[in-house]
Amino acid sequence: MGGKISFQGIPISKDRIVVVTGGNTGIGYETAKWMAMLGASVIIACRSEKRAQEAITRMKSDFQREKEQKTEGVTQTDDLSVEFMKLDLSSLKSTKEFVDQFTESGRPLNTLICNAGIAFHPLEYTEDGNETMFQVNYLSHLLLTLHLLPIMRRSGDDNRVILVSSHGHNNHSTPFSVDKIQGKQHNADNFPRFKYYGNSKLYQILQMYFMNRRLADSNVCVLSVNPGLVDTEITRGFQDSSWMTWSWKIVRAFSKSPAEGAEHTLNAAINPALKGVRDVYFQECKPKNTNAVARNKDIQESVLEYSLSCLNDYITDDIRNEWKTK
Ligand SMILES: NC(=O)c1ccc[n+]([C@@H]2O[C@H](COP(=O)([O-])OP(=O)(O)OC[C@H]3O[C@@H](n4cnc5c(N)ncnc54)[C@H](OP(=O)(O)O)[C@@H]3O)[C@@H](O)[C@H]2O)c1
Repeated sequence: MGGKISFQGIPISKDRIVVVTGGNTGIGYETAKWMAMLGASVIIACRSEKRAQEAITRMKSDFQREKEQKTEGVTQTDDLSVEFMKLDLSSLKSTKEFVDQFTESGRPLNTLICNAGIAFHPLEYTEDGNETMFQVNYLSHLLLTLHLLPIMRRSGDDNRVILVSSHGHNNHSTPFSVDKIQGKQHNADNFPRFKYYGNSKLYQILQMYFMNRRLADSNVCVLSVNPGLVDTEITRGFQDSSWMTWSWKIVRAFSKSPAEGAEHTLNAAINPALKGVRDVYFQECKPKNTNAVARNKDIQESVLEYSLSCLNDYITDDIRNEWKTK
């Protein structure tokens, strides 16, 4: 981290429990670290225990440095409260196991940050038969949220789900077809990776709308953010493509640091002025219009219905009834 973040002066109680998916690197790392440094109890939900434990060690050493520098707002506790829990979003089984383990712990949950993601991935299918970006970026996060919401509803005041989306969500234009949600009409040679990355980020914004409609009177609000162009390990998803790798080298000159990227998530997660605010997509920490497809209620509901069918073996009748199309 270099320099300040805008929310340093806002302490977070250690009783606030935060889950950050993909908290071991990039935007998720800085988000989890700053949430913990401001006082929250943070769980990083990651697929690799080794990478997660190394990240926790790095966070703790960053924390000692910030304390020595007497950085405003940083908690004065001896150690950071950050722990690892296993979550592989390319597996619905792993995602459900995370949910079961978290539920069994009996802990409350105040903030769920759906951050983990992969970009411009070639056409591949998960063990569940879903296109990989669709499942990792959107579907498994939806499964996570559906199961964790009842806990969040019992966890006191001002609870937030933050969906880390992207400007790429704008790639989609009408007409929208449920049959093409996962791009299964393509083969590996003609799969438009940019478009389907953008689509996975669009589904997150549709999720924000269909969830908030049902959570309107509750203590849980769903917000989405676009972190902008951030220099992270996201490039791993397209290292097989020389032109994408070269393009990134050029645009990288205009990118933000991971800490600057995390400011957008932190704003949505902890800015007290956003208590009770829902249905907002933030860009540069300011509300920004989503595209027309994202705002279309019929599309929102059709994607929800389709998603529930993909999750059929992993949800209960209670969830099915609560979330069925209205
Ligand atoms: N960087 C940008 O310019 C940019 C722009 C717009 C939006 N975003 C969004 O920001 C979010 C964070 O991306 P980033 O740029 O920080 O990328 P990153 O440095 O590559 O971090 C991605 C994180 O997601 C995790 N992840 C990937 N696949 C996973 C899986 N199957 N299960 C669990 N975790 C998984 C990674 O874990 P491993 O380390 O184990 O792979 C890593 O922790 C993503 O949702 C991305 O779409 C990024």
